[in-house]
Amino acid sequence: MLRDSLKLPVFRAERVTRVYRTGAVDVWALRGVDLSLAEGEMVVLLGASGSGKSTLVNILGGLDLPSSGRVFFRDQDLSRASDRQLTAFRRDHVGFVFQFYNLVPSLTASENVALVTEIAKNPMTPQEALERVGLAHRMDHFPAEL
Ligand SMILES: Nc1ncnc2c1ncn2[C@@H]1O[C@H](COP(=O)(O)OP(=O)(O)OP(=O)(O)O)[C@@H](O)[C@H]1O
Ligand SMILES: [Mg+2]
Repeated sequence: MLRDSLKLPVFRAERVTRVYRTGAVDVWALRGVDLSLAEGEMVVLLGASGSGKSTLVNILGGLDLPSSGRVFFRDQDLSRASDRQLTAFRRDHVGFVFQFYNLVPSLTASENVALVTEIAKNPMTPQEALERVGLAHRMDHFPAEL
């Protein structure tokens, strides 16, 4: 029973391409990616710099759309979703740790976390979130002071 539920595909990508069109040259960041990720599966995406890892993760995470192909999260077709639907998908299902931290420099650690807890459905408090990552004692510090 448990094994079966672990195997449910939660993400499916089919023939996904992403072409960045910037001026004279087209950059093919993804050329026909097929991928299936199961619930509970832990995955490492490994590849050379520029091989398209961030591009793929941005698409799976609802930050960007493929140029062609389809991407499903459970039954939801992310490749045809509106901005509003993608925003709801990210809010309810996605946790991103960005390569660059994307913190608001003029807000404290607590205030930065509060930005997220304000839009989440059943948020923990900023205090609890920071305690869990060992940063409770830095709640009132600005990002540059962390
Ligand atoms: N916004 C963009 N405009 C134009 N080209 C882009 C853009 N973003 C990425 N690219 C290009 O697409 C290709 C894939 O980039 P991507 O950032 O997905 O690679 P990556 O595997 O995440 O690399 P890294 O390991 O350096 O993070 C690269 O050739 C990159 O230069
Ligand atoms: Mg990257």
